[in-house]
Amino acid sequence: MSLAGKVAIVTGSGRGLGLAYARELARQGAAVVVNDVDEAVAADAVRTIEADGGRATAVVAPVGSSEVARQLVQAAVDTFGRLDILVTNAGILRDKSLLKMTDEDFDAVINVHLKGTFTCAREAFGYFKENQVPGRIITIGSPTGQRGNFGQTNYAAAKAGIVGMVRTWALEMKKAGVTANAVIPVAATAMTKTLPYFQKAVEADERGDAMPAFFRHELGFGTADDVAGLVAFLASDAAAGITGQAIGAGGDRLQLWTHPEAAATAYREGGWGYQDLVENFDSLFGDKLQSVGEEFLPLPEELQPEPAQAR
Ligand SMILES: NC(=O)c1ccc[n+]([C@@H]2O[C@H](COP(=O)([O-])OP(=O)(O)OC[C@H]3O[C@@H](n4cnc5c(N)ncnc54)[C@H](O)[C@@H]3O)[C@@H](O)[C@H]2O)c1
Repeated sequence: MSLAGKVAIVTGSGRGLGLAYARELARQGAAVVVNDVDEAVAADAVRTIEADGGRATAVVAPVGSSEVARQLVQAAVDTFGRLDILVTNAGILRDKSLLKMTDEDFDAVINVHLKGTFTCAREAFGYFKENQVPGRIITIGSPTGQRGNFGQTNYAAAKAGIVGMVRTWALEMKKAGVTANAVIPVAATAMTKTLPYFQKAVEADERGDAMPAFFRHELGFGTADDVAGLVAFLASDAAAGITGQAIGAGGDRLQLWTHPEAAATAYREGGWGYQDLVENFDSLFGDKLQSVGEEFLPLPEELQPEPAQAR
């Protein structure tokens, strides 16, 4: 089952995960609209896809506004005659702890990830509906959006918001036969390469060696290519029945995430006043409070990062 005859847009696909998605979609037969703010990497991506035997064109523009969303869908239609698949992957980081985070840090991240996903999905869905295309919208979340992470207020808000939108779109798009899902990736890219925790895995990858099994298996951390198969699968006819899901991929690991639901429920005739909560909350829910943050397993001795000065 291939993607031959289909047309995809992948935002932020000049490098990293987006490039891996674009290449895999093209390998499976789709023509791809590459998008990035960096003109040179976008042009390189098109050349790479063409050298692989695929079809691609580039739109150099910053995802976020409705205008750029329109430009992307128009490019797919003008260049390749239609649109079937949208992957909203473009992203940036502006990490700072809450008190140091400026309004600009917050707005920049929300604009690219959350608003960019919203504007592109709205434009693509409008096209799908009007042209009766059983389209695919594949958004990109993050473990940070699912669990929270120190120093990532803006990014956590954007990524959790994306999964919230996917749950809503699964409902709104069902009748049109359009699916909307979120991929929760983890991979060695410019975004994660500098994290000391992953140093040994990134070094192995850069040497052209396989990443240590502990990273690939226990931590679900691998290469961008490890995530690309899931994106192509969700874009395919084989995934027609899958919508509203958040699916994690990285290294050797594939995960289906839960959506939040009530972890415990209690009733009291007349409702719960302040004093009722003071007296009962702990006994009702005290042992059921939810954990936050990702669990970072301790690295085995030989996989620990070297101290900065020794690098
Ligand atoms: N790398 C990971 O482990 C990881 C984990 C969770 C989520 N993600 C998400 O995956 C996506 C890709 O991340 P990556 O690691 O490949 O990052 P990356 O920095 O390697 O690539 C992101 C690309 O997006 C482009 N870009 C930035 N702003 C843009 C804009 N406004 N419009 C168009 N393009 C823009 C950049 O120029 C870059 O080429 C992001 O949404 C990121 O949040 C990555």
